[in-house]
Amino acid sequence: AAGRFILGLETSCDETSAAVLQDGRVILSNVISSQVPTHQRFGGVVPEIASRKHMENITVVVDEALREAGVTWNDLTAVAVTAGPGLVGALLVGVAYAKGVALARSLPLVGVHHIEGHIYANFLSEPNLPFPLLCLVVSGGHTHLVELSGHGQLRILGATRDDAAGEAYDKVARALGLGYPGGPLVEKLAREGEAGAYPLPRALQQEDGYDFSFSGLKSAVLNLLNRAKQKGETINRENLAASFQEAVVDVLVEKTRRAARERDASTVLLAGGVAANGYLRLRLAKALAAEGRRLVVPPAILCTDNAAMIACAGYHRLMAGETAAADLNALADWPL
Ligand code: KG4
Ligand code: ZN
Repeated sequence: AAGRFILGLETSCDETSAAVLQDGRVILSNVISSQVPTHQRFGGVVPEIASRKHMENITVVVDEALREAGVTWNDLTAVAVTAGPGLVGALLVGVAYAKGVALARSLPLVGVHHIEGHIYANFLSEPNLPFPLLCLVVSGGHTHLVELSGHGQLRILGATRDDAAGEAYDKVARALGLGYPGGPLVEKLAREGEAGAYPLPRALQQEDGYDFSFSGLKSAVLNLLNRAKQKGETINRENLAASFQEAVVDVLVEKTRRAARERDASTVLLAGGVAANGYLRLRLAKALAAEGRRLVVPPAILCTDNAAMIACAGYHRLMAGETAAADLNALADWPL
């Protein structure tokens, strides 16, 4: 096989994923083994179980990724792996595996930041995006507004001061008895409800700066449910889901719109698991289009955790000559 073939690995949370990416843009395979059924009965990810599942799955997932891609170990150019942030025991499985492969096959090793991976999912859809770019990253663990002045040149404009947007979705889903992961379930319920039904806070929406805060909103929803329970009143769950989603999206859209205007970004990217949300995609695209800006969003399968995005970010780091040493370690906390 001809070209540059990057093996990407992702094990930072509850998906074991391996991908083969050709020349930084062609996804030859992107195998994702989800642990959702395993963690579902606990209502969230159990870190110790996640590590063990990654250990069981990783060899199978990598073999499948190579087979689907039609490449052999000999064809690989480099190995890129998520080195953080995430669950440290989960990350270690991917990092240790990648180090083993790199050593055995004498391949360069690239340690990828998980959030940079999410952002790079956009370069899989459109490899030649014009810098400078603005990106809203919304996942289960992160809510960031990031400015990209070039490949690998990221600057955080703002971030959440407490809960991430996806975390708020998951906690509200849990309180509504919807299960895990909550985002898609809240979105589905919200489609049947009226967004104006329950007044909920929109923290920091009108403030200067690009920081977010979602814990007050989450608490307001939980308090509403608790009070209704005490008084024996019924809550319209569809309306509550819709009101909650509207509050989250209002803030995300307003902050991103303002950042795009103030930073003069003609193209805006959306990334992370919450970017799979259809309502957010619609509202943000509309708000930006009204000011002559374009929103780029990866397909939903590349928004949630996957190894193709890690391989893509790894490819660009590799091209910049940024490889990891043999002592690459997993970092539970790793600032962007
Ligand atoms: O990026 P991701 O797969 O993992 C992290 O890096 O955190 O994001 C998972 C998060 C979860 O909080 C999940 O509820 C949320 O993304 N999510 C959604 C949707 N799909 C996934 N949130 C809202 N609407 C969705 N359709
Ligand atoms: Zn993620």
